[in-house]
Amino acid sequence: PKVCYTQPDGTERVVEAEVGDSVMQAAVRNGVPGILGQCGGSLSCATCHVFLDERHADDFPPVGEDEDDMLDVAATDRADNSRLSCQLVLAAGQEVHVTIPETQL
Ligand code: FES
Repeated sequence: PKVCYTQPDGTERVVEAEVGDSVMQAAVRNGVPGILGQCGGSLSCATCHVFLDERHADDFPPVGEDEDDMLDVAATDRADNSRLSCQLVLAAGQEVHVTIPETQL
């Protein structure tokens, strides 16, 4: 799978990820700035907040209750397409586009 990360200034970076990686893990492993993943994916930090491109809205399980609670306290205000990228697990052949918020802290 591939992930295309768009920074707040419009800069794009495409990363080759492993099947089973989360969008957060793929960013951290490849040094993509702006996704911190401080809690390692346990839904307790919200520093992996991203805006998921609308075209992928049905490609992942819906926002869970814990994810929803954490999005409420994310450093950048949530939007309708906000997700915690540690919950977006990549499948073979997927090509996912996300935009990184202005700040995670
Ligand atoms: Fe902490 Fe996603 S990495 S909530």
